[in-house]
This record gives sequence, C-alpha cells and structure tokens, in this order.
Amino acid sequence: MDAAGPAGVQQGAGALGCSQEASPRPADSSGLVQECLQQFKVTEAQLQQIQASLLVSMEQALRGEASPAPAVRMLPTYVGSIPHGTEQGDFLVLELGAKGASLRVLWVTLTGIEGHRVEPRSQEFVIPQEVMLGAGQQLFDFAAHCLSEFLDAHPVSRQGLQLGLSFSFPCHQTGLDRSTLISWTKGFRCSGVEGQDVVQLLRDAIQRQGAHSVEVVAVVNDTVGTMMGCAPGLRPCEVGLVVDTGTNACYMEEARHVAALDDDRGRMCVSVEWGSFRDDAALGPLLTAFDRTLDRESLNPGAQRFEKMIGGLYLGELVRLVLVHLARRGVLFGGCTSPALLSRGSVLLEHVAEMEDPSAGAARVHAILQGLGLSPDSSDAELVRHVCAAVCTRAAQLCAAALASVLSRMQRGREHRALRVAVATGGRVCEQHPRFCRILRETVKVLAPECDVSFVPSVDGGGRGVAMVTAVAARLASHRRLLEETLAPFRLSREQLAVVQAQMREAMAKGLRGEASSLRMLPTYVRATPDGSERGDFLALDLGGTNFRVLLVRVAAGGVQITSQVYSIPECVAQGSGQQLFDHIVDCIVDFQQKQGLSGQSLPLGFTFSFPCRQLGLDQGILLNWTKGFNASDCEGQDIVRLLRAAIGRRQAVELNVVAIVNDTVGTMMSCGYEDPRCEIGLIVGTGTNACYMEELRNVAGLTGGPGRMCVNMEWGAFGDDGSLDALSTCFDASVDRASINPGKQRFEKMISGMYLGEIVRHVLLRLTSLGVLFRGQQMGRLQTRDIFKTKFLSEIESDSLALRQVRAILEDLGLPLTSDDALVVLEVCQAVSQRAARLCGAGVAAVAERMRESRGLEELAVSVGVDGTLYKLHPHFSSLVAATVRELAPRCAVTFLQSEDGSGKGAALVTAVACRLAQKTRV
Ligand code: G6P
Ligand code: BGC
Ligand code: BGC
Repeated sequence: MDAAGPAGVQQGAGALGCSQEASPRPADSSGLVQECLQQFKVTEAQLQQIQASLLVSMEQALRGEASPAPAVRMLPTYVGSIPHGTEQGDFLVLELGAKGASLRVLWVTLTGIEGHRVEPRSQEFVIPQEVMLGAGQQLFDFAAHCLSEFLDAHPVSRQGLQLGLSFSFPCHQTGLDRSTLISWTKGFRCSGVEGQDVVQLLRDAIQRQGAHSVEVVAVVNDTVGTMMGCAPGLRPCEVGLVVDTGTNACYMEEARHVAALDDDRGRMCVSVEWGSFRDDAALGPLLTAFDRTLDRESLNPGAQRFEKMIGGLYLGELVRLVLVHLARRGVLFGGCTSPALLSRGSVLLEHVAEMEDPSAGAARVHAILQGLGLSPDSSDAELVRHVCAAVCTRAAQLCAAALASVLSRMQRGREHRALRVAVATGGRVCEQHPRFCRILRETVKVLAPECDVSFVPSVDGGGRGVAMVTAVAARLASHRRLLEETLAPFRLSREQLAVVQAQMREAMAKGLRGEASSLRMLPTYVRATPDGSERGDFLALDLGGTNFRVLLVRVAAGGVQITSQVYSIPECVAQGSGQQLFDHIVDCIVDFQQKQGLSGQSLPLGFTFSFPCRQLGLDQGILLNWTKGFNASDCEGQDIVRLLRAAIGRRQAVELNVVAIVNDTVGTMMSCGYEDPRCEIGLIVGTGTNACYMEELRNVAGLTGGPGRMCVNMEWGAFGDDGSLDALSTCFDASVDRASINPGKQRFEKMISGMYLGEIVRHVLLRLTSLGVLFRGQQMGRLQTRDIFKTKFLSEIESDSLALRQVRAILEDLGLPLTSDDALVVLEVCQAVSQRAARLCGAGVAAVAERMRESRGLEELAVSVGVDGTLYKLHPHFSSLVAATVRELAPRCAVTFLQSEDGSGKGAALVTAVACRLAQKTRV
C-alpha cells in the first residue's frame, strides 16, 4: 500500500483526482478493505501488553527514575483531596487547550450545598490558527481579551475576581498556581512558552489588558477538572479521563509513592500524560502506515504517539488517510478523490462520530462525503462506516488498556485492596461517541476484571472541577497573605538593621563612659591574650550554657589537652537557693577530682560564669542579675567567687585555688585567641547571647587609663531594655517576655538566643492557628505548652537536607499532627524568626567591629571573632546570615568567624594560666 506518501499534498487542489484503473471497482475490493481495516485490529494479548508496559512506565516515573526515560510523565498536580462539596463562591474559569481551537470562559458558582448546582455562564471563542501557531504572548493576550469580553458581556460581580486556568498540556507544577509548560501537544505550537510558567504569562497578559482586575489563583489540567467536578457519589471519583482533541488521565496516587513530592501522607492527584506513551515492543506492531503518515505530517512528529491513535484531533485524520488510500485503490468513490479529501484536517471528529453511528443512516454519510466534494455510491457509505468504526474501536480499546493500567496502579498503590472507583469522563469523544464509551467500558472490564468501576460523565465540561480547585487555591492564597502579614514584622530591612547598629554604637559609648545605658560594658580585667609560654595543669568550671562542665586543662609545650565531664543542673537547683546551687557545684568538682585522681591537689581554677558580673579584679565578680533559666536566691549582688569559696569551705575536704572568673564570651575569645592572635571579639549565640571585645583602656570608665586594651563584656543581651528596640519588637516578643522569669529584661537576647526562639515560634503558631492558617484553625493543646519548641527543633526543621516529611515527623513527635501545608507554614515561621535573630546579631557584631576600627583610627580593620553556642553551631544558616549582615553593615571591616571547638572552659583555664604566669613574673 502507498499510504506512506503524504496523502494530503500529492495531487493539485481543485482537480478531482481519479486513478486510471479506478472504475469499475476491483474484483477483490472487499479483500482490500479487509486487509486495510485488519491493520486496526488489536488483540486482547496486545492490549494486555500495552497495559503491562504502561504500568511499568508509570511506576518508573513515579519513582523518579530518569533512565531509561519513562514513557509517561506522572506529573503531580498539587490537588490533594477530592472535593468535600463544601467549597463555595463565584469563580472564573478559563479553559485553554481542552477543546482544540476553542477557548472557553465560564462563571461558576459553587453553593457549598451538596446536590445544589447553579448553571454556569459560559462563552466560547475560536482561537485563530495563526494565534495557535504564533508567539506565546499573542496567545495569552488573546485569552486575556476573551476574558475581558466575557466580563463586559456578563453581569457578574467585579469584586475580587478569582480565576482558575484549565490548561491542558503537559506541565510541571510546583504548586496550585505555578506550572511550567513542558511541551505543546495537539494543534498548538506557540513560541516562547515552553519552559515558562503559564500562570505568570496569563497574569502578565491580564495586566497588559488592564481592563479588569482578575487574580489567577489556580492552574489545572482538564483531566483534574473533570475528576474534581464529579459529584460525590456512592463511590469516590478518583480518576479523571479525557478524550477530546487529545487524551490523558489523572488519578489519586498515594503521596508516599511519588518521589517528586516532599510529602508522604495522603494522596495526590497525578496527571499521567499517557499521550506520550510509546513503547516500541508494545505499540510498534500496532502502528499502521496511516499512523506513520499522520505522525510525520503533524506539528510534533515523533511525539505523543499514543495520543495520535486515540485523540479526537487525529481520528478524523486517520479516517481521511484510509479513505484516500482506498479511493486511490479504486475501492471507494469510483477511484476518485477530491481536493477536500486530500486536505489535511478536512475530516472532523464530528464527521467520524456521525458516520459510524448506525442510527445516522446512509443519507447522512452521503451528505458528509458530498460535503467533502466526493460522489459516493450506495456501497461507499457502508464501507466508510466500517473505516470509521475500525479507527474508533481501536482508539477506544487502546484508551481502555491505558485506563486499565491506571486502575492496576491504584490497586497496587493501595496494597491490592478491592478497588471500587468512579471514573469521571470528559471530552467530546467520550461525550459524543456512544460506541466509544461502550467499547471502553467493555474492554476495561476484560482487562481489569477485579476492579469495580463506574463511569460518570463530567459536569460543565470540567469547569465545575476547575472552580473547585480554584476555591481551594483561593483559600490557600488567603492563608498565604495572612502568613505574610504575620511574618512581615520579622523581616528587617537593611535600614532597620542600620538603625540597630547605630543605636548599639551609641549605647556602647554611653556604657563605656559610665552613663545610663542598656549596655553595661563591663571591664573583665583580661588585658592580655596567651603568648604561648603558659604551662601547667588547671581546673575550669563552665556554668551558664546548656551544660555545666568541670574540666582539667593541661597546658604544655605541645598544646592544650582537655579532659572534661558534663554534670546536670536540675531546674530546681538553678532556681533554688544560692547555697544549694554552689554546694551542688562543689559536689560535682569533688566527683570530678576523684574520677581524675586529683583529690587533694589544689590546682589553680578558672570559672566560666556566663552571667553579667561587675568585676573588681580577675577573681572577683559581683553577679548583677541572673539571666536565662537561672534564678537562685541570694546570689544577685554577691561576689560569685566568694560564694564558691564559701561552698568549698562548707565541703571541708577540698582545697581549691580560684584564680579567675570569666564570662563565656571572654573564655571563647581567649580560647580562639590561642590559635589566632587577631581574635579580639568573643561572641556567644546559645541559650543566651552576648559579646566581648578588646577596648582601648583609655575608653573604659572607672579604670585608671593608660596604654593598652582590656576585654570588655558588653552584656548585649540587655540591649534594648531601655525601650530602644520597642519599634522592632513584635507582639510575639512581648508575649515571650511577659511569660519569662525576667520580664522587661534581656530584650535583645530574647529576640536572638536559643532559649527564646522556639517560644517566639510557638506564639506565632498559636496566632496562625487562631487565624485558621494552621491546623485547620483548631487549637492544639500541645501548642499551649511552654517551651515545647527547643532551639534544636528550629535547627533541624530548617536543615536543607530534611524534606518536609521529616519536618512533619519532628512536629508529630511533639504531639502536633500536621498536614503538608501546615509543615510548610511551620518551616516558614522558623525561617523568619531565625533570620531576624541572625540579622540582629550581625548588626551587633557590625557595631562592635566598626567601633574598634574607628577607635583605633584605622581605615580598614581585620579582626576575628571567636564564636560559640548551640544555636550558632547547629543552625544550618545562622552563621552565614550573621556574616553576610556584618559584610553589609561594616564594609570596611574584614571580619572572620572562628568557631570555638573546646568551649569557653579552655579559655577560662588560659586566663588562669596567664594570670599565674604574670603573678610568677611579679614574684620573681
Ligand atoms: C560555650 C561555653 C558555655 C557557654 C556556651 C553557650 O561553649 O562553654 O559556657 O555558655 O558555649 O552555648 P549554649 O548553647 O550551651 O548556651
Ligand atoms: C495533553 C494533556 C491533556 C490531554 C487532553 C494532551 O495532549 O498533553 O495535558 O490532558 O491532551 O486534553
Ligand atoms: C548572659 C551573658 C552570657 C550570655 C551567653 C547572657 O544571658 O547575661 O553573661 O555571656 O548569656 O551565655
């Protein structure tokens, strides 16, 4: 046979082409017809092979396997549940690509009442051929134009118009309103759209149009609209099947089987995009020469091979090619063709539907053929009917095989439980070809006998379903707005941070001068960093962070060696009596000494005490006030070293020689300074936060000036306690402050450090729940529990390597069962809160560095910061955000951050070692 030639262009238009030997009809004409139509026959075995092969491809695509490239796409649609029937409101729907060259605009009213349906208003527009094949912008401008024409012609409300776009081409969706076109199919080929977000293109076009303000809130494949619009019936409608110009199906897949998703709970509607299915072993034997010609002459040769055997855009064309072939063989039309018959696209889907319908009668077939410029005789009509039936039967059977694989997939995904499901069917082939649907149903029954399937025609051509999804998307969009509004005060601008930096500079200056300031700027009596000549064994205590530690620090020529042990300080001790606290500390020291075989030795001891102390010398520190979770009585206003010595005295057995009391910032700076002499700033971002740095001695009030520097403990946690940060403080900060054991105190610390960030997050989550954005608006008892959110969770939740499903697992462990949308909200809240913390901290470091640069009269300053603290170390982004903020706010300072590895206990021991060295020197 010669159908391989491009049938549409072989003969000049205008002439009636007749083959020479055409008439009379060849003797073997019925044989020729049989032979031709035989090619469209598909056996049950072949259908089963297609079913099996498609299933393999589907599962491969679900697993995200890229090689070999799966033949179907399995695209997540972000539609997570079938409709409840409670969705309500008025929505615009714009349908593009479902019905060939026609674009539809609908106004759909969802009443929220089951069974109560309001007839939608709709208008259809014909998309000119040159637009379908022109520039993308032109297509979207055309769509925007139709929309505005519709709105002008229909008296609908103009307020808050929300639109769902039904866009029936393969798209990568990343949300309900984000969808990138992968490739055009069917009769479309507009330039500049593939790889672009079609929602954005439509938004831009609507804006260009400027006539109406319409918000595009959702984008949906036609199969999804078909499924979602299906009225909730006896069995769940979890499959949407469309056979129109093109063909495709979607179904509800178990989310845990979709590798592309972060979420593993519930189901997600997946668009199979089976039109692109091609498997040479399964499909190859079925491809006729007509299929090959059709493919070659199509807009997308080589693509959508399966669709081209089923979709309505192609059925008429296949029939036409067969008719041309048979006419040329002299079997039909007395061997004559016509210019119309030879023109691509002249046989329409409607023609095929009518001609194969036995009830239409021969006269109707004659009329259609005559309309094509042919002169059929009495037997031609019958033959043509056979041709139409053969082409459509094959299409319906192939479609059934594909649907059977979807059903098998659903059954496998659901662990082979008996599947009872409704399939919503849409598209003109399904709607207008009674035979097609019948064959489809019968074949599905044969191929998937174990599935109990019913077929339900779609409502409003899928428009209602699109409106349903739009309603859900609109709700999510309003949640997003509320979320943004709630988090906005946490997003500090560069200007706001510059103000913080300037205020900090001013407070530092005042504090140093001894004037009233929220920054105390406490002298530490640490004037020199280690010079490497220190030697000996030292004890160190480290109190005030997550852990209380006792350490043995051996400083030798080869470096520093540390042995340490962590002891717990129960909350009742931290908040009990001072005597109890210091007795406990001494008990721990005794235990440590015994374990280390140090009993009876009186080693010099350095005490890291991470609370604000006014020091009167290296070994004298008056506790000004407790911070963080500590509140032991009778300590404030007392010399901590004296309290420790008193406890040692009570425990007569031990002898200890307390040489130095050191803030953790100072210990950290000294510890890092041992490695890098440029380390002149110490920073802690852990349970609490604070910084120290080397200040010019002449600037430190209350000390006899002179050359050189002294380390100043800023106690910046208290920054803002004079109200200077109030403009930045949110109502959540106020709640956290109010509930703390030191209301009104440590305002900067309460916006930054680990002890409080979790609480801020918890308060934001409570607010979002009351706004209905989280937990479907239901207040969770667990969320009322103070301190359930630890800093650790913030760090874990924001870790890039953790998928959202793990975020949810973390929160579920806390007794907070979340949906995937909830998990995303929680993540965003954590990000906003920790970003603000890091940026405020960066503004503080920038203030310190700039002050150092200026007071040293330098153009540029190169300085290192020794840093410690669980939040800084464990949080995945905190440190880089601090550094970035410093670069932004102190561009003339090259600030390097060094993480302290050994804790500030080592630094305390080094301060002690330096003091011993200097003392020895004086003695000599
Ligand atoms: C250092 C010190 C602690 C200090 C802590 C801050 O390593 O040794 O005394 O307070 O870091 O971190 P944290 O997160 O434990 O409060
Ligand atoms: C498209 C699908 C669509 C189907 C039915 C295909 O060409 O790729 O996205 O669902 O046609 O309209
Ligand atoms: C204390 C500081 C300490 C910081 C970090 C604050 O609460 O007041 O002295 O350096 O926490 O631990």
